[in-house]
Amino acid sequence: KKDLLVMGIETSCDETAVSIVRNGREIVSNIVASQIDSHKRFGGVVPEIASRHHVEQITIVLEEALKEAKVSYEDIDAIAVTQGPGLVGALLIGVNAAKAVAFAHGIPLVSVHHIAGHIYANRLITEMSFPLLSLVVSGGHTELVYMKEHGHFEVIGETRDDAAGEAYDKVARTLHLPYPGGPQIDRLAHEGEAVIDLPRAWLEDGSYDFSFSGLKSAVINTVHNAEQRGETIKPEDLAASFQASVIDVLVTKTVRAAKEYGIKQVLLAGGVAANKGLRSVLTAAFNELEDIELVIPPLKLCTDNAAMIAAAGSVMFEKGQRAGLALNANPGLDI
Ligand code: KG4
Ligand code: ZN
Repeated sequence: KKDLLVMGIETSCDETAVSIVRNGREIVSNIVASQIDSHKRFGGVVPEIASRHHVEQITIVLEEALKEAKVSYEDIDAIAVTQGPGLVGALLIGVNAAKAVAFAHGIPLVSVHHIAGHIYANRLITEMSFPLLSLVVSGGHTELVYMKEHGHFEVIGETRDDAAGEAYDKVARTLHLPYPGGPQIDRLAHEGEAVIDLPRAWLEDGSYDFSFSGLKSAVINTVHNAEQRGETIKPEDLAASFQASVIDVLVTKTVRAAKEYGIKQVLLAGGVAANKGLRSVLTAAFNELEDIELVIPPLKLCTDNAAMIAAAGSVMFEKGQRAGLALNANPGLDI
C-alpha cells in the first residue's frame, strides 16, 4: 500500500505552522514560526498583529515544510487545515492558504478542529486505544473529551469560565511575569512551597466541569491584601500554591472520569500539558492504575503545531471526510 502523505496547516492563534506527516503517525517535517516576541510587550496575543504575521509567514513556512520533507505538492495526498476554534482573522489565513494550494494542485482538502488536533498529537507517539479519555488543557480550552473510536468526540466536562492556561497567564501578569505566563509560573512553582491556602473548584458532585476564575481572583486578592498590609508574599510560594490547586482539580477529575468510563488510555493534550508539575502528578496517579495507559506527548507537540493537525487530518481523510473550496474559518467551531 502506498504511503499517505498529509500536509497540516495551523494558524488559529500565534503560531504559523506547517507540517508533513506520513501514514498519520510519522513526522516528516514540522515547521513552527512563533510570534511570541511580537506579542510579549502587549502581555498577550493581539489578534490584528497575529493576522499580519500569519500573512507574512505562511508562504515561507509552506515552502520550508516541503523543503525539509524533500517533497513537492505532487507528492501530497491531502491538505488538512485548522478550521476553528481560534482567532477568526488568524484562522482565515490558514484556511485560505490551504484552499489556494488545494485548488492550484488539485489536492483534496480536509478540515480539522483545533482540539482534535491537540488530541491527535498523541498518535505521533503511540497508537490510540479506545475507549480513551483526553485531558485537553490550553490557553483557550480545558476539556475532558471521551472518544469511543476515531473521529468520535464527546465533551464530558469543560471549563465554565477561564481556561487553565488563561488562568496561568493572568496569574503571571499579577506577579509581573512576562507572557506567556504558564512556563514562568511552572518554573517559579518548583522553587516555592504550596503553603498559601487557595480554593479548589470541585463544583457539583459528579460534575466533570472546571472553573478557574475563582482561583484566579483568590490569587489577585491575596497579592492585594498583602500589599495593603505591607506584608510580602514569596512569589514562589504563591506560584506553587496556585499550581497545586490547578493540578489537584485536573488530576482528580481525570482519574475519576477514567475509572467511571472504563477507559483504556488517557491522553494529555494542549499547551498546559507542557507543565512539569501536571506531568509528574498525573504520571504518579496513573502509575497506581495498572489497566489504564497514560500518554504524555513531548513538549514540542503539546503547544500549537501543524503535525497534530496533519495527524488528525490523516484519520479524517481516511474516514472519507472532504472539505470543499467553500470552507470557511469558524472561530466558535464545536468539536
Ligand atoms: O495549546 P497552546 O499552545 O495554545 C492554545 O491553543 O491555547 O497553549 C498555550 C497555553 C498558554 O496559556 C501558556 O501559558 C500555557 O499553554 N503553557 C503552560 C506551560 N507552557 C505553556 N502552562 C503551564 N505550564 C507550562 N509549562
Ligand atoms: Zn492550541
